Formats: sequence, C-alpha cells, structure tokens
Amino acid sequence: MNDENSPEESPFASDLLNRKPAAEFLTKYLIGRHSVSKSVPENASFVLNLNAEWGLGKTYFLTEWAKILRANGHLVVYFDAWANDYASNPFVGFMLEIQNQLNEGLSADKRIKASARKMLKKGKNVIQALAPSLAVSMVKHYTGFDAEKINDALKESAIDVASSVKRDLFKESEDIRAATKAFRAALSDVAKAVEESEGTALPVFLLIDELDRCRPTYAIELLENVKHIFRVRDVYTVIATDSVQLSHSIRAIYGAGFDSERYLRRFFDHESRLETPDFERISEFMLSGRGLGLGAFDNPFSQLLGSSANATVLSLLAKALKITVRDFQRVIDIIDSIRLTYPKKLEIVLMGFVTMLFVGHRAAYDVYRRDHNNQSVQKALSGNVDHSIRIPILHSMGPHGQAVNHVTTGEKSIIEFCIAYLAAVWDDSNQLVANGSNVTLLQMERSFKFKPEVVSSLREYAGLVAVAGSFSA
Ligand SMILES: Nc1ncnc2c1ncn2[C@@H]1O[C@H](COP(=O)(O)OP(=O)(O)O)[C@@H](O)[C@H]1O
Ligand SMILES: [Mg+2]
Repeated sequence: MNDENSPEESPFASDLLNRKPAAEFLTKYLIGRHSVSKSVPENASFVLNLNAEWGLGKTYFLTEWAKILRANGHLVVYFDAWANDYASNPFVGFMLEIQNQLNEGLSADKRIKASARKMLKKGKNVIQALAPSLAVSMVKHYTGFDAEKINDALKESAIDVASSVKRDLFKESEDIRAATKAFRAALSDVAKAVEESEGTALPVFLLIDELDRCRPTYAIELLENVKHIFRVRDVYTVIATDSVQLSHSIRAIYGAGFDSERYLRRFFDHESRLETPDFERISEFMLSGRGLGLGAFDNPFSQLLGSSANATVLSLLAKALKITVRDFQRVIDIIDSIRLTYPKKLEIVLMGFVTMLFVGHRAAYDVYRRDHNNQSVQKALSGNVDHSIRIPILHSMGPHGQAVNHVTTGEKSIIEFCIAYLAAVWDDSNQLVANGSNVTLLQMERSFKFKPEVVSSLREYAGLVAVAGSFSA
C-alpha cells in the first residue's frame, strides 16, 4: 500500500487504521515537552520508544508522521536501521542517511545547510576514530553515496561487533571521546541554526525504524549510539520497535537470565504504544484493492452480513486467530493467488480459516493437514485464539438437532463454528450435502446452498494453501 503513496500525498491520506489522531497527539506532546525545556532541563532531549507488534504499522506511521513534522518546519531524519544493518557500526549508516537526506533538500536554509555540512565532517572524524581501517575506504566514497561500494568496503573491514558490544566503545579511547564530543557540539549547532532560521522549528527529530529486525548486536550498538552521541539538546529521537521481539533477541546474546526489558528501558524516557488496528476496515480495503467483491467467493453469511460479508468474515477470523496486519496481508495474497489459479469458486469462511492457520498457527495447520481431525486442531490452537469473537447465525434447529419451524438469530464463537465446519467437511456421511446441500448442521444461513462443485473441493483447501503459501513471501 505504501507503494501507492506519492511523497506529495497528504499525511495519512490512505490511513485505514485511524493512526492520524495518535500522530497529532504525539506531535503536540513532544513539541509541548520541548517548549518548556528552557525551564525544565530534562525536556531538552528526549528518546521515545514507539512500541507495536511487527506488522502493526510502525513504518507506515513514522513515514506519514514525518510528513506532518516536516510540514510544521521540523528537521526530520528517518533512519531505516535494517537497511543499514550491513554496516558494522550504525553510526556509519546514520551519517550516510543524514548526508543522503541533506542532498534531497532537507532544508533550503543556507545556515542550516552549512552547519549540517560541518556536522557531517565531524561525523567522519568519529568514524575514523571508531575504526581507522574502515574509515579510509568510507571517506573515499563519502561524497557520492554509493551503497554498493560502501557495502564492499564495509565487508573488507569488518569490526568484530559482538566483542565491541561487550566493551564500551565510547569510554575506550580518548580519540573516540574527543571526536564524539566535537560531533555533538556540531549537532547542537545544527539545532541552533534551526532555531534561528525562518520557517523552521525545534526540536530536530530523529526517527529510527526497524530496530527489531536488525542483528541484535547491531541493535544494541545503535541504542548506545543514540545514548552517547545523539542525545543532545533539541534533538528528539523516536525509536520504533517491537519491544517483545527486541528483548528476546537481546536475551539471546546476554543469556536467558538477562533482564533485557529492564536493560532496554534505560535507553528510553517514555514508551508509546500503537493500538491494535481495526481489521474490518483494513480487510475491506485489501479486498477491494484486489477486485475481490462479494461475488468473488461463496459466503454462507452473505445475507446476514450484507455487502461487506467477505471483509467481515475475514476480519472476525483474523481477530479470533490474532493475526497481525502484515500476516493478514499475506493471507489475502494467498487467497487471491488461489482464486486466480483454481477453477472452482472458493468458499471464503473455510478458505480464510485454513489460510490463517497456515500463516499464523502453523502447528494447528500441520495437524489439520495430516489427520483432518477437528479436535486435534482445536487442541493445537488452544490458548492462542480469542473465543469471544462471534459471528451472527440463524438458529433453525432445536437443541437436539431437530428442525424447528421458526428461525431465530443468535451468535456463535467463530472459532467454534470453524471447528464444527472442519468436522462436517471430513465427515464421510458428508453432512454438508446430506441435507440437500442445505447446511443446517452448521447453523449457517438457511438459504445458503453449497454448490456440489464447491463441496467436493473443500477438502483440497489445505493443500491449495500450502502450494500458494510457498510462493508468497
Ligand atoms: N494506518 C494504515 N493504513 C493503511 N495501511 C497501513 C496502515 N498501517 C500499516 N499499513 C500497511 O500494513 C502493512 C504493514 O505495515 P508496516 O508499517 O510495514 O508495519 P511495521 O513497520 O509495524 O512492521 C504495510 O503494507 C502498510 O502499508
Ligand atoms: Mg516496519
């Protein structure tokens, strides 16, 4: 979806998760904090941890938020830590990124440009002090950004990062200390130039993304960099992480008994969380973007749920199975690719359920594929699902399965519903067709008829998903 955003597009124009209010709040909060920094010295610099599970929209949020901040006159450097993770020291990547963004016209103001250039020069000295051999080739390529050459240079001069993490680089050498100090002063001068220029505002923002995807040693070094180098007056740093993920990988380095949550917290002044998204909305967007309207699938709930029945079913399944936005996107991609290659019309409830097992609950999926037993699937899912997510159903049966004359509406846990559905699909007396293709057993909609060609294909779904899933990243 990001690909469709042109840089000129207004911030959060394609926001499906209602993130804009959070961005506006954070803008006010951080600028408010900074505005009293003259009398509250600890507000002069700030490190915010923006925490959200992987795939819940951190990158989208930072990218769009940066547009708001820039429109308000702030200098913003966006740093994709993962894209720079090849470098042995994160500071090298920082410098390249700052240079890159300066070249793209970070600010037209002459004074700001001049001070930024000076800062880059001081940055080179830090790199030189950190790793003399690395710096020679680095500095050679510094003026023209050439990722490939730099990449080669970095490979040649790999510093032993794992051991440098355990040492404290910044306390080790007088050279590093002096170079770092000069760089920090130069960074402060950039902030001063920003303050004194027309149309620009403080603080300067440093947005760091994808930290949790980096090698743990690199992530730690980056946090140390922020603490020792970038924490200066008038610079506010925002670090987006999946904190649970990051503390796991840090524990992998320091050992199982290491209190990595506490270790991480000392790098941050404050933590903000991104809320869990509204799946109903994102589901509708993704389906319509791929031309998957109501007619694209069979859906036993189409009369009960109306025109957005497919999106509703998929979003309820995603919530019940606790699927992330990114995984949900993958689910839709898999289903779409099956739809394009498989000759029969798909039934979206079972297809959605099986695909989500494949993407988000592989153990349960494997159990289902192997022995088609709904009880074992239920066991494999056990605590990892939300039984409170319910789907509207019609009761057309009495408590003992006898047909009743009147039909009432009710609700049923969608997980329980799907577990019953699996049982019906693999029941050899074939309950799906036993009632004249009228699936009253499942208490789906009375009027929904499983077409014979669909019924015969339901058992193939797990296999179809395995093939399609292996082609989607
Ligand atoms: N508010 C939003 N509105 C629309 N699409 C979004 C929103 N947030 C995230 N997405 C989309 O969801 C996917 C995952 O989001 P991303 O920002 O990459 O997650 P993260 O960085 O947390 O892993 C991307 O394709 C992104 O474009
Ligand atoms: Mg991201």
